[in-house]
Amino acid sequence: MKPLEYYFEKALKEKWAIPQFNFSNLEILKAIIEAAKELKSPVILGTSEGESRFLGIENAVALVKNFREQFSLPIFLNLDHGKSFDSCKAAIDKGYDTCEFDGSELKFDENIETTKKLVQYAKEKKVSIGGEMEEIGSGNLTDPDKAVLFYRETGIHRLAVNIGTGHAKEGKIDFFHLKKIKERVGDIPLVLHGASGVSEEEIKEVIKIGINKININTALRKAFRDALKDFLNENSDEIVPYKYMPNVIEKVREVAENKIKLLGSLDKA
Ligand code: G3H
Ligand code: ZN
Repeated sequence: MKPLEYYFEKALKEKWAIPQFNFSNLEILKAIIEAAKELKSPVILGTSEGESRFLGIENAVALVKNFREQFSLPIFLNLDHGKSFDSCKAAIDKGYDTCEFDGSELKFDENIETTKKLVQYAKEKKVSIGGEMEEIGSGNLTDPDKAVLFYRETGIHRLAVNIGTGHAKEGKIDFFHLKKIKERVGDIPLVLHGASGVSEEEIKEVIKIGINKININTALRKAFRDALKDFLNENSDEIVPYKYMPNVIEKVREVAENKIKLLGSLDKA
């Protein structure tokens, strides 16, 4: 299987984005895998610290490895918003393919220092590291000059940008600001968080400007919750998970498939 960086280079060159779908249970993971398989898309499977704790780091690694081998799919496991060197190190040591360190709570210098240490640690293990400067959803948009400095100093592989989106809410993207960042950083993949609350038109626009990874979580969680509720409301006597879950998986899969098409990653596996 080709490494994750191969897909990022391709996405950069061809102007599309790799989807990151978060998961915290087997059913959501199955739905994402089925969508990736059907549409032949590379996919990053993200788990936040909370999601990986709930699943168990080793279990997340084993599940993704099994599906990857079973279907020969380019799927990569990412620790999303790793908050400390130690949590990223633990994920890397247990077999995560990549990690995105979120040092947005640290002072700029400390963030650079920790991110750099992590990049050096991960290099030996051939694991790529992403970085993050400002908290996603804060009014503090990513400064283009600081972004260049951060990228050069740390050696990160990709950078998450704060350009107006927020987690689990509707965002208002500052396209002009994104253009300024892209002009300054050049050929480094940029990551958009909080994409569930972004319209299709806006997603297309950010990809044109230079976003190459898009993170989606809430849209899948809502599809899961709503489908489960609806099904059990209509079939309140059903107690067998493998009888009511296929319907739920199908609904989550539909969302993942639509996002894959929107991001342009179909047929890129
Ligand atoms: O890191 C994960 C993403 O930023 C997900 O954001 O839940 O708003 O789609 P979302
Ligand atoms: Zn995020």
